[in-house]
Amino acid sequence: MQLKIIAHDGRGRLGWDLAVLSAAVVAAIHTPLSLVFGSANEAAFRSTDAAVSAVFFLDILLNFNTSYAEKRKPIADRKLIAARYLRGSFWIDLLAALPFAVFDAVGAPLLRLTRILKVFGSLRVLGRIRRLGTNPSLLRMATMVFWLILAAHLIACGFLYIGGVSTEGGPGIAYLRALYWTVTTVATIGYGDITPDRNNPVQLIYTIVTELIGVGMFGFIIGNISTMIANLDLAKTQHRAKIEEISAYLKERAIPRELRKRISDYYDYLWESRRGQGENSILGELPLSLKTQVSMFLNKDIIEKVPLFKGASPLLIEDIVTNLRAVVYLPGDSIVRKGELGEDMFFISQGSVHVVSEDGKTVYATLGAGSFFGEMALILSSPRTATIVAVDYCDLYTLRKAAFERILKRYPDFAESIRRMAEERRKENEERG
Ligand code: CMP
Repeated sequence: MQLKIIAHDGRGRLGWDLAVLSAAVVAAIHTPLSLVFGSANEAAFRSTDAAVSAVFFLDILLNFNTSYAEKRKPIADRKLIAARYLRGSFWIDLLAALPFAVFDAVGAPLLRLTRILKVFGSLRVLGRIRRLGTNPSLLRMATMVFWLILAAHLIACGFLYIGGVSTEGGPGIAYLRALYWTVTTVATIGYGDITPDRNNPVQLIYTIVTELIGVGMFGFIIGNISTMIANLDLAKTQHRAKIEEISAYLKERAIPRELRKRISDYYDYLWESRRGQGENSILGELPLSLKTQVSMFLNKDIIEKVPLFKGASPLLIEDIVTNLRAVVYLPGDSIVRKGELGEDMFFISQGSVHVVSEDGKTVYATLGAGSFFGEMALILSSPRTATIVAVDYCDLYTLRKAAFERILKRYPDFAESIRRMAEERRKENEERG
């Protein structure tokens, strides 16, 4: 009977890989202990050995029956799978799976430690969980702590193995003594209450090596923790760096304080409303089809808000949405000025604007979310008929003249609605005189 090929990215395989990882962690703790205390607790150590060995052998069997991805394409051909596995981690997996009895039979029980190699391969499964949305920095931190604990465990068992501490009081307390020695030595605390035998060269050399490892580890931990903390919120860190760079530049060029304040307000708003990223820059790199889908999703609110789009054909909506550009205005900003030439029309997503006279003294109308403006200059080919001032923070979408004209040509019903609105506004202004 042949197994069916298992999908390398399926849930079943993920579950199994997590089980293998657990077995590997158990093995990494169990194997060095078996070397130190094995003879005293023969039965218990043998049964764990057998269980771990069984899991690892089953894993080898499943690996020969699991597809793999090449350039994101799944490969399910048994010959190719086997060839790849044999070239890769098969031999390590095999060494790790061998029961202790094999190494003992050839008189090299220390080789049992090869089982620990399995941890390296099995840790890769965490990368797959990462894609499921776990915070990568936290995961890295957890992996690092795991390695530190494992290293301390190995060093402590090594120290026990070479007789560095007395076994008086039983294996439990002896192990704790060795671990205590390891941590004080590696952390460069060195109380010196448990020390190597001064006449035992093996213990002396072991201690020297442990001290050197300790110094290295210290640097490694400090370096890692500081980058991890900086990376915990990468977006925020980058945003802050960008703002610092910009404000240094603005100061250097002696930009007035008031203007600098507005710029910093703008970035604060960008951070609060969209984690610091203008959609335009984020979306810029995406291929067209993905870009359309993201824009459709992001601009869903504007599509729902603008009454003009109610019942419009999906094609028209897609056409408009993919041509919209998000822009932000701060309270008091003039968005368009009366008499200027018009190049865009605007849809309001958030915030409100005043339609005012040229001197800004008379407010003709207030437009809120879902309204649009700036269409008259484009339709009537005239200068802007009024000034528009942002009342509060405004999230707007602009549509360039060329796209606007193309869309009007293509969708006559939509063109008609906009024309009607422009005509109404024109009449209203005319009556006002
Ligand atoms: P446009 O002339 O391109 O630029 C100014 C905009 O103000 C204009 O397009 C309209 O969209 C808008 N507008 C002008 N008059 C009114 C009004 N009376 N009520 C609402 N909006 C107006």
